[in-house]
Amino acid sequence: MSVEGVFKHFPIRQGIVFKKEIARVHAVDGVDLTVRRGETLGVVGESGCGKSTLARCLAALHPVTRGRIVFEGQDVTKLSGAGLKAFRRDVQMIFQDPYGSLNPRRRVGSIIGDPFAIHGIAGGAERKRRVQELMELVGLNPEHFNRFPAEFSGGQRQRIGIARALALRPKMIICDEPVSALDVSIQAQVINLLKDLQDEMGLTYVFIAHDLSVVRYVSDRVAVMYLGRVVESATEDELYAGPRHPYAAALLSAASIADPDEAERAERIVLSGDVPSPIDPPSGCRFHPRCPKARDRCTVDDPPLIVRPGDAPDHLTACHFPVERGENLARESAAIAQVSTEPDLPEAST
Ligand SMILES: Nc1ncnc2c1ncn2[C@@H]1O[C@H](COP(=O)(O)OP(=O)(O)O)[C@@H](O)[C@H]1O
Ligand code: SF4
Ligand SMILES: [Mg+2]
Repeated sequence: MSVEGVFKHFPIRQGIVFKKEIARVHAVDGVDLTVRRGETLGVVGESGCGKSTLARCLAALHPVTRGRIVFEGQDVTKLSGAGLKAFRRDVQMIFQDPYGSLNPRRRVGSIIGDPFAIHGIAGGAERKRRVQELMELVGLNPEHFNRFPAEFSGGQRQRIGIARALALRPKMIICDEPVSALDVSIQAQVINLLKDLQDEMGLTYVFIAHDLSVVRYVSDRVAVMYLGRVVESATEDELYAGPRHPYAAALLSAASIADPDEAERAERIVLSGDVPSPIDPPSGCRFHPRCPKARDRCTVDDPPLIVRPGDAPDHLTACHFPVERGENLARESAAIAQVSTEPDLPEAST
């Protein structure tokens, strides 16, 4: 899948009769991405940076404001009717909230069987057999076919969501924070299930999370989002070894480090200021009000997402003055951030 200059703006309207548009939320504001067959692309960023909106655009659940999303040669944003229906079989979504995404009054067998019903595939005993196969595949007891969602634990409910997503043998699954609502002890089980299914079925994943350690564990490549844009993307190894965008560096420095010796040596980069509003994103580089490296140019000149000298060909960074190897951004930012209010950086689980 290739995502080319995708924008998704939500109009804010006022007035009863004319509903005049008074502003727009720039939820996704010019995203470029590629997802390769069989890989897991991790997407990270603070809450509100547009991850879920992007996910819904990729799954064609939101029309885009502008831009192209090309899946196997077809522009998804132009699909309708039978073409859109075929796309929905190939690309499925798993949502964050296993409680909210399952109808509490319906039996699990019928929930998992929904995709068959919608697409008119397999009925009666055949449908039941296929649903029970799916339940077994995701580690649920097929005997529990007639139970209600409330009779399952959180982790089991997420398995129900996964079974439903797999029903039509999709090629790609967009996972929007699939384990964020689960206990840490259950998270690993669900993640390992997703990994096993990927190996078995050759699935492609877009895996969205705010937890950097989860993203690192599952992803081949990672894209870091800030205020509706991708600011850096690279292979998992490259990014975690040497982030180039100051925001990516700050995110990584805020994540917990498992090795206590390393944690002691590492300095946290403290960003000054709050996350700006997506209604009126800053001019130039939208990270400039919080960036420890910002210079005059950054306030007027929007940096493109490009390969910087010395980086791998698929390591892209949107920054005029990227972090250099060995540069200590922590000290630099400490000097600049006089009134640093601690931002909502993602909580890293241990
Ligand atoms: N349907 C909507 N209408 C208006 N604004 C929205 C809508 N959905 C999301 N937003 C706004 O878009 C921004 C990005 O939201 P979201 O994509 O949910 O971010 P994330 O998943 O990264 O937390 C937020 O400011 C959010 O309030
Ligand atoms: S372009 Fe300037 S403000 Fe933006 S991240 Fe790079 S150094 Fe910071
Ligand atoms: Mg979200």
